[in-house]
Amino acid sequence: MKGHHLLTIKQIEAFKQDGYLVLENYINTQQRHRLMQRAEQLIEEFQPLANPSVFTTNEQERSSDDYFLSSGNKIRFFFEEEAIDQHGNFTVQKQQSINKIGHALHLLDPEYKQVVDELDFHSLGKQLGIESPRSIQSMHVFKQPNIGGEVVLHQDSTFLYTEPMSCIGFWLALEEATCENGCLQVIPKGHKIPLKKRFKLAADGGTQFDILNDSPWPEQPLEMLEAAAGTLIILHGQLPHYSAANRSSHSRQAFSLHLVDKLCDYPQDNWLQTDLV
Ligand code: FE2
Repeated sequence: MKGHHLLTIKQIEAFKQDGYLVLENYINTQQRHRLMQRAEQLIEEFQPLANPSVFTTNEQERSSDDYFLSSGNKIRFFFEEEAIDQHGNFTVQKQQSINKIGHALHLLDPEYKQVVDELDFHSLGKQLGIESPRSIQSMHVFKQPNIGGEVVLHQDSTFLYTEPMSCIGFWLALEEATCENGCLQVIPKGHKIPLKKRFKLAADGGTQFDILNDSPWPEQPLEMLEAAAGTLIILHGQLPHYSAANRSSHSRQAFSLHLVDKLCDYPQDNWLQTDLV
């Protein structure tokens, strides 16, 4: 049923003030399992290419990777860096090797599409200020046991830029997220920090970061957002967030969906381009 996830005025105020909002039990056990089982199936059917694409926080590698850059309107698979050794051999089984699947699961896969529709993110987005929501990107993130990669401190509007800025991220804990397995960490109220950089297509065919503000991140400890399975964390597009590598023996699966406002300009040189929405 749509429209049943209404935020209270207090929750909307908290989001505006802190730049994030935690909603426990947003997704039920059945919905979580549908997404995790579907992911397992997709990985089972996936045939890796000769040169597998690794999701890395290393900008040089990522920018030269066409498989990544053209994934905005496809379902594609990215490996954990440590899942492949220097000789190109897998260090783990296929099911434990994937860092994430992205970026159009919510549009192309019927099971994801149905669960996303049930979760009614657009209503939440509207309550948080997006006038005409557009689901621009979805990801199933695995944070695999022992090798789950770190995601460096960033603002999502760096990657999903609009004018004016409108991005809001919806991050669902499909499994429990703890300090040990790489839960989200945020700078509370950090959404008031100006956008630091923009990741965009470069004229020569690669990508580049435009530096918009080169002041350092504030020196304050990040807040650990440990989350029980089923929790939704909503992130303002300018809120700096981070997640550490997973050295524990448990995966930390999450599903994320990002909204932008259709009424804002979506630049043609954003890295993620899709003709699907
Ligand atoms: Fe992010």
